[in-house]
Amino acid sequence: MELGLKNKAVIVTGGGSNIGRAIVLAFAREGAKITLGDIDAAQAAVVAEEARQAGAAAVQVATCDVTDMAQVEAMFKQTVDAYGTVDVLVNNVGWDKLMFFTQTTPDLWEKIIRVNFVGMLNCTYTALKIMAPNNKGAIVSISSDASRQGEPREAVYGGMKAAVNSFMKTIAKENGRNGIRCNVVCPGVTIPEQTAEVGANSMWVNKDSMFTPEQLAQIAKSLPLKKVGRPEDVAGAVVFLASEAAGHVTGQVLSVSGGYSMIG
Ligand SMILES: NC(=O)c1ccc[n+]([C@@H]2O[C@H](COP(=O)([O-])OP(=O)(O)OC[C@H]3O[C@@H](n4cnc5c(N)ncnc54)[C@H](O)[C@@H]3O)[C@@H](O)[C@H]2O)c1
Repeated sequence: MELGLKNKAVIVTGGGSNIGRAIVLAFAREGAKITLGDIDAAQAAVVAEEARQAGAAAVQVATCDVTDMAQVEAMFKQTVDAYGTVDVLVNNVGWDKLMFFTQTTPDLWEKIIRVNFVGMLNCTYTALKIMAPNNKGAIVSISSDASRQGEPREAVYGGMKAAVNSFMKTIAKENGRNGIRCNVVCPGVTIPEQTAEVGANSMWVNKDSMFTPEQLAQIAKSLPLKKVGRPEDVAGAVVFLASEAAGHVTGQVLSVSGGYSMIG
C-alpha cells in the first residue's frame, strides 16, 4: 500500500533514541525528508546516518531542546529552509523518573511538566502556523498508557500524558477545517533490544533503573500478547496515523501496549 509519505517533510522530536529512533527509521523507509530534533546531537547524528542508509530522501539533525521556544522555532525554520515546508510533526520527546509521588519534589514535577507537556505545546504551536496556510498536515503525539489508567511511580508523568491526550483532541477539532489531522499513540512498556538503540540522555541508558529483568518478565506475563513492546511496534502506528492511509482519522488515542489497556 502506498502511504503517501515519499518526500514528505517530517520532524521527529527526540528522534535519537529508542522509540524516536524507530520512528525516524520507519519514515526513512517510506522515503521521507526528515528533521531529527534532539537535545543529544551526538546520538542524533548516529541515527541520522542510519536513516540515510534506510532510504530517507533527506535527513538533517536539529539540535533542539523542545522546552525552549526559540530553539523550537529554529528547528522548524531549519526544516522549512531545507525542505520547503513541514508536512508531519511527531511529538515524541518524553521523560520520567519512576518514583512514588510522596518521594518526588516540586523541582522534579516542574521538569516532568516541561519535558512532557510544554515541549509538545511549543512544537505543535509552531507546526500549526506552517500547516494551516498549507491546508494540510498531520501531527502525532506520543503519550503513554500511563495516561489511561493510574500507574504507580508515574503520577505526574501520567497526568501530563493525559493532558497530551486531551490537548490533541481539542487541536484536532480546532484544525480539522484546515486539513490537519491530530492523533496520539500510547505505548506501553517498550524496551530497546541493544544499548546502541539508545542515547546517553535516554531514560533507558540504565535499563535496570526502570524495570528489573524480573519485573519485565512479570509485565510480559500479565499482558494479553505476553510480550513487552519493541520500538518498531510504536513506529508502525505512528507512520500509519501520519499517512494517507489514515486520511479520515483524527482526534484518536491509540494504545500500542500488547493489550495493557483496552479503552473502547
Ligand atoms: N519506552 C517506553 O516504555 C515508553 C512507554 C510509554 C510512553 N513512552 C513515551 O515514548 C516517548 C519516547 O520514549 P523512549 O523510551 O524512546 O525515550 P528515550 O529516553 O529513550 O529517548 C528520548 C529522546 O528524547 C531526547 N530528549 C529528551 N529531552 C529532550 C528535550 N527537552 N528536547 C529534545 N530532545 C529531548 C533524548 O535525548 C532522547 O534521544 C516518550 O514520549 C515517552 O514518554 C515510552
